[in-house]
Amino acid sequence: MTSFVSPIKYEEETLYLLDQTLLPGQEVYEPIRTKEDLWEAIYKLKVRGAPAIGVAAAWGLYVCTRELQGADFEDFFQQFHEVKEYLATSRPTAVNLFWALNRMEDKLLSMRGAAWDLEHIKQQLKEEAKCIYEEDVAACHAMGTYGLSLLKPGMGILTHCNAGTIATAKYGTCLAPLYLGQEQGYDFKVFADETRPLLQGARLTAWELDKAGMDVTLICDNMASIVMKNGWIQAVVVGCDRMAANGDGANKIGTSGVAILAREYNIPFYMFVPTSTIDLNTPTGADIHIEERKGEEVYKMWYEKPMAPDGIKTYNPAFDVTDAKYITAVVTEKSIVYPPYDVNLPKLFAEQGPA
Ligand code: MRU
Repeated sequence: MTSFVSPIKYEEETLYLLDQTLLPGQEVYEPIRTKEDLWEAIYKLKVRGAPAIGVAAAWGLYVCTRELQGADFEDFFQQFHEVKEYLATSRPTAVNLFWALNRMEDKLLSMRGAAWDLEHIKQQLKEEAKCIYEEDVAACHAMGTYGLSLLKPGMGILTHCNAGTIATAKYGTCLAPLYLGQEQGYDFKVFADETRPLLQGARLTAWELDKAGMDVTLICDNMASIVMKNGWIQAVVVGCDRMAANGDGANKIGTSGVAILAREYNIPFYMFVPTSTIDLNTPTGADIHIEERKGEEVYKMWYEKPMAPDGIKTYNPAFDVTDAKYITAVVTEKSIVYPPYDVNLPKLFAEQGPA
C-alpha cells in the first residue's frame, strides 16, 4: 500500500504545513500560529497546489481567529472578516483559496442571529475546516477512480507541475489515478515535466512518485514534444487552479503548450478539476487573474552561479490558460465531464444551486 505524504496536519490543536520549498532535500513541517505565518506560507509556496491552498486556508483561518474575543456576534465577525480579507491577498489565481475562505465565512454567518456563544461558534468553525479537509480527501479519491477509467495498463503518461498528494489533502488530483493504478498493477510509465521556473515537476512530482515506487522519468519542459513524437505518451494528465464556466482552465505556466502539443500528436489531454476549483462566476479564461511573480525566480533562484545577467528584464507569469477546445475531458469528483463544457459544467452544480 502506498503511504501518502500529507502537506497539512492538524495535531494537538496545532496546524503544521509541510514546507514544500525545502523538497526534495528536507521534509520539514512548520507550525502556523498567526495570520502572517499563513500568508507567507501561501505566498512563498511552502503550501501550494490549489486544493492544498484551500484546505490550509480553511484550517488557518480557524487557527488565526480562535484567540479573538468579541463583545457580540458583529464584533467577532468584523475581526474574522479582516483576517479573511488579509489571507485572500496571498495569491490570486487558485480559486480554492477564495472558495475555502468564503465557505468558512458563510459558516460563521449561518450563526448570525443565534444566541451569542463564542465557544460554540469557534467549535463550529473548527468542524467546518475539518470537513473541508475530509471532503478534499474524498474528492481526490473519487477523481482517482474516474481518472483510472480513462487509462489503460502500461500507458505512458505525461504530467506538468505537481497535482499530487502534496498539492491536496491526500492522493492528489491528476496523480490520484496513477497511485490507484499502481496498486492494481497498471505499470504506468510517467514522464514529469520539470516545470520551470520553480521546478514543481522535478522537486515535487518526481519526488513523490519516486518515493511511491512509480516508474517516473524527469524531462525538461522543452522535451515534451519529443517524447510525444517518439510515441511514448498515450495520455496527458494535469491539475487546475481555476476553471472558468466555459471550460477554459488555468494551470501552471506551460500547461497550455503541452495541451497544444497533445492535440498535434492526437493524445488525450485530461484536466483534473474538483468542483471547488470550478468558478462559474468567471465566464472565460480571459477573466482569470494570472499571478505574476518576481523575476528572480526565473534568473537566479535555484542555482548558486548566475543563470542570467543580474537584473535582466523578465516576464514571470505563474499560470496560463488552456483553452477548453484542447481539453479532452474534465475529471471531477462527481463525474467525468465532456464538451460542451459551458453546458455540462453547470450541470454539476444543478442539485445544489448555483456555485
Ligand atoms: O504555483 P503552484 O505550485 O501552486 O501551482 C500549482 C499548480 O499549477 C497545480 O497544477 C494546480 O494547483 C493543481 S493542484 C491539484
